[in-house]
This record gives sequence, C-alpha cells and structure tokens, in this order.
Amino acid sequence: MPATPSVTLNNGVSMPQLGLGVFLMPHKQTAQNVSVAFENGYRLIDTAAAYQNEEGVGEAVRKSGIPRDELFITSKLWNADHGYDNAIRGFEASLQKLGLDYLDLYLVHWPVPMRGRATETWKGLEQVYKDGRVRAIGVSNFKPAHIERLLQETEIVPAVLQIELHPTFIQGEVREYAQDHGIQVESWYPLGGQGNSEGLLHLPLLTNLAKKHGKTAAQIILRWHTQLGLVVIPKSSHPVRIKENRNIFDFELDQEDIAAISALDTGVRLGPDPDTANFR
Ligand SMILES: NC(=O)c1ccc[n+]([C@@H]2O[C@H](COP(=O)([O-])OP(=O)(O)OC[C@H]3O[C@@H](n4cnc5c(N)ncnc54)[C@H](OP(=O)(O)O)[C@@H]3O)[C@@H](O)[C@H]2O)c1
Repeated sequence: MPATPSVTLNNGVSMPQLGLGVFLMPHKQTAQNVSVAFENGYRLIDTAAAYQNEEGVGEAVRKSGIPRDELFITSKLWNADHGYDNAIRGFEASLQKLGLDYLDLYLVHWPVPMRGRATETWKGLEQVYKDGRVRAIGVSNFKPAHIERLLQETEIVPAVLQIELHPTFIQGEVREYAQDHGIQVESWYPLGGQGNSEGLLHLPLLTNLAKKHGKTAAQIILRWHTQLGLVVIPKSSHPVRIKENRNIFDFELDQEDIAAISALDTGVRLGPDPDTANFR
C-alpha cells in the first residue's frame, strides 16, 4: 500500500492526511481498533477528552512499539473546561490519560459562543504550545466569525480547523477562508457519520464511481477529501474497513469525478450548529 501523504501545517509541522477517528468507541475496543490501524500503516489518531477513550489510545500506542515521533496524536479540550486555567488542566488530564509527555495536536472542541470564553481558552492552548508540550494547536467547529475573534485577540493563528465536512456538506466558503488564513481543514463525519454513512455510501453517483475505479464507495469519498487537500479521520470498528479506508492512495479521481461529488452538496449539516451547540 502506498504511504499516507502528509500536509505541512502553518508552523512547519507535518501531519498525515489520513487517520483513525475514535468517536463512540469504548475504551477496550479503542485499544484494539487503534492497534489494527497501526498495523495497517495509520499514524494519526483523533481522540478527545469527551470520547472517554484516551486511555485506550495510549494503551495501543505503548503496545505498538512505533517510535513516538512517527505518530501523530490529537486530542480535544471539552466544553466544560473552557477558560485559561481549565484549558491547561484539561490538556494535562488528557496527556495523563494518554500516558504521553506531549501531544501532536490539541484542539478546542467547540467554540460555545454563548459562554464567551473561547479567547481565554485559546490563550491556555497558546501557553501549552509555548511550553513545548504540544506541537500544534487548533480549533474544532469554529466558524470564520469565531476564528476572526481569536485572530484579533490572541497571538497564534490556529494550525488546524476540524469541522463537519462530507459530500453533502462541503463547506466551500469555510474552506476558502481557512486557505486564505493558512489553516489546514480536517473533516469530521467524512463518510457522513454513524447512522448516516449507509445512505451516502449507496448514492448511485458514488457506487458508479466505485465501479469505475475498482474501489468501494467509502474509498471514493475518502479520496475526494484527500484530493481536496483535506485531512480525513474516518472511524470504523471493523478491521476490514479500517484497512479499506487506508487503501486510497493507489488511484486518483478525475477532476470531473471530484466536481460531481462536490455537486452532492445540500448545504445542510447532519451534526450540531456550532453557534448553538452548548453540550456540557
Ligand atoms: N470535532 C468534532 O466535533 C467531531 C465530531 C464528530 C466526529 N469527530 C471525529 O471524526 C471522526 C469520524 O467521524 P464519525 O466517526 O462520526 O463518522 P464517519 O467516520 O463519517 O463514519 C463512521 C461510520 O461509517 C462506518 N464506516 C466506516 N468505514 C466504512 C466503510 N469502509 N464502509 C462502510 N461503512 C464504513 C462506520 O461503521 P463501523 O464502525 O461499523 O465500521 C460508522 O458507522 C470521529 O471518530 C472523531 O474522531 C469529531
């Protein structure tokens, strides 16, 4: 299988373009699935404090024997931990659960604009970054208006913006904004998310493209993400699918295939709207 390509973040750090997402995976299953991912050449793992499975990721990292500097481990600060001191404490709690002494990427999980603490939270992330305990910092579910505020009130431009993004919600304007500001976009719900992916994977356009390229519909969608320059983190709890999702770098979609997939856009989110999402 060809190697996973990398993107270079705005601070020079290299990030694999494909990883395993572990949302909604229980601890034990997480350790097993991450081990399968490592065996199949994955090096990027996307977890979060809220997923309550950081220990499982850490367990697989230790078992793998892969040198730490070849891995790219992301976690995220939960909404209950907004605020400068809380953010630093949240970061330290994640490190401890993962059993690591640094992270590759740490994200603010949601902007929670109704609580108005994103700026001080971001300053907490800037501090752990300056202390050398994380190689890059970024945000998740921030809209351009939320990022603008950070740019005005803080020092460091986020390296990564992780957002809902898939063929029926292609986030054209947000991608353009991120590109203009040197921010790497990373897609969550890349296959449409649990409960929705079935519908997306059976769309005739995608099954036809799958036949055309001798691939599966999931591989077509993931290749679409990577050819758009996005980082993508599909989740699967099935070893066969974990392997399948990694095996996308031995073919190329044509420009018209990419345009046809992008034309599936409905502009409708499947997940929560970041302006109103206020989970605790
Ligand atoms: N920042 C945020 O707020 C946020 C929000 C949501 C997700 N995320 C991150 O993004 C990652 C991915 O999102 P997601 O897990 O919600 O959704 P997803 O990756 O779009 O979809 C996962 C679903 O697709 C199925 N699937 C995976 N590979 C498949 C294949 N090759 N063929 C057929 N079905 C396949 C999975 O089923 P099986 O497991 O049964 O294979 C699961 O039901 C998460 O794990 C998490 O790390 C971040």
